[in-house]
Amino acid sequence: MPKKYGGLRRFSLKWWLALPFSLGDIWRRFAPKDPMVHAQCYWWYGDLPRRHPQEVFPEAAYADLRLLNVGRRDPTTSTTLFELGCILMGRAQADARRIVEVGTFDGNTTLNLAANVGEEGLVVTLDLPLEEQEPELGLAIDQALRNVTNRQVVGEQFQDRPEKARIRQVFGDSAKLDWKTLPGPFDMAFIDGCHAYEYVKSDTENALAVLKPGGLLMWHDYAEMEDVSRAVDEFRNRVDGICALQGTRLAVGWKKKA
Ligand SMILES: C[S@@+](CC[C@H](N)C(=O)[O-])C[C@H]1O[C@@H](n2cnc3c(N)ncnc32)[C@H](O)[C@@H]1O
Repeated sequence: MPKKYGGLRRFSLKWWLALPFSLGDIWRRFAPKDPMVHAQCYWWYGDLPRRHPQEVFPEAAYADLRLLNVGRRDPTTSTTLFELGCILMGRAQADARRIVEVGTFDGNTTLNLAANVGEEGLVVTLDLPLEEQEPELGLAIDQALRNVTNRQVVGEQFQDRPEKARIRQVFGDSAKLDWKTLPGPFDMAFIDGCHAYEYVKSDTENALAVLKPGGLLMWHDYAEMEDVSRAVDEFRNRVDGICALQGTRLAVGWKKKA
């Protein structure tokens, strides 16, 4: 049996002792030396319960995971290494062999999923067409939330890897694409494309349509981005076990079985 995780303690003695008692303490809180600590202070959106990954994926807590290119991660555009670990734990818990990812970027997460799906597995990863740096999007969104990445890097981390045999790249706007043409049904969907509310809603609806009953849904940028958090919160009653994973910007849930 996996050890029960005790939960993070708030308002502990250490918390009280760490209250800012001087101007120096206040300044250190405004400008921590590690920019990642600063960024995490703003992971505050969304109403889902925050749960520890071990509670959410108990059967995967001791799973052997294959991690590739761990030093080639950009947590400002991709996931942190801990988030990647949680995504792979989710894959192991669901025993997902067929996965769809929205938002390829440089392909680090795609590569790592493909490294863990087994010989017969398949990871379908979707990104906007490579030819246009400024594509016209299918949904009207706040322009500040356009996040079209450099077209030269899309999928670059898996191009020369043997795992590429288990990856299928699809190019198109996730809201314009006919998801029925994808080789589903899927065991798992990872939603990490455009982070505008309208896209997260549309991608989630489409993912639910191609997921198997009981399939795993994971969203990135929950808690950090207001639009993502608001959209995911709206699936509260339509997805089983929905929650956010502590220490990450991941939200997870399972497609209802009936
Ligand atoms: C945050 S990055 C994905 C990171 C990747 N999942 C990872 O874990 O490394 C978002 C990607 O979604 C793509 N994207 C943005 N809008 C999109 C849309 N409407 N349809 C498909 N892909 C989109 C961007 O080009 C970008 O590469």
